[in-house]
Amino acid sequence: MFAVIEGIEGSGKSTLQTGLAEALRARGRRVTTTREPGGSPLGDAIRAIFLAPGPAIDAVAEAMLVNAARAQHVAALIRPALQRGEVVLCDRFVDSTLAYQGYGRGLDLAMLRALCDIAVGPLVADVTIVLDCEPTLSRRRLAERGAAQDRLESESADFHERVRGGFLTIARESSRHIVLDAGDAREALVAAALSAIDGVETRV
Ligand SMILES: Nc1ncnc2c1ncn2[C@@H]1O[C@H](COP(=O)(O)OP(=O)(O)OP(=O)(O)O)[C@@H](O)[C@H]1O
Ligand SMILES: [Mg+2]
Repeated sequence: MFAVIEGIEGSGKSTLQTGLAEALRARGRRVTTTREPGGSPLGDAIRAIFLAPGPAIDAVAEAMLVNAARAQHVAALIRPALQRGEVVLCDRFVDSTLAYQGYGRGLDLAMLRALCDIAVGPLVADVTIVLDCEPTLSRRRLAERGAAQDRLESESADFHERVRGGFLTIARESSRHIVLDAGDAREALVAAALSAIDGVETRV
């Protein structure tokens, strides 16, 4: 089972991933949690470049960086874990590239899809949980979390609204996506995500 959690910064992806992993482990499942960009030493090095504040990175370069990290992530961590029969819970995946570099930065979606296909091969998420979050809620949560802003967090509200809309459009066009309200309580989100995973696993 390969489940992906998507949403803008501060939508609650990491929080949901932790709760979901706990709930699945309590049922006796073996769970691997991971995130993008990252998931491998190479991926973590790319993540640091990607998120560091600094001069603007060209959008195509940005898309290629995250997909270089992704190819390594899939080959070294995700595919082996799935082959061992584990549940893999991944914080961000291909949809983040489409939402940020496509809907956010305006790159061609077909080009981005082709690039992501090179990175992931035939792998598709069994279920993607989109945490739909108003940028104002996200800003409030990130301020409360108190960390310094990274390169994407410091983008405009308009950028984050486009990214949010991108996730919703992708989800609308897919039967493998569910959209949850990021403003719901943590426990309610875990329960809804669990039932989405159960639904996929019991489907014949
Ligand atoms: N359902 C929720 N209700 C209330 N607060 C929440 C909820 N989910 C997360 N939070 C809080 O919002 C903040 C952001 O959550 P979290 O770090 O999980 O988001 P994220 O999507 O992983 O962010 P990032 O993209 O920056 O990694 C945290 O302080 C977290 O405790
Ligand atoms: Mg997070």
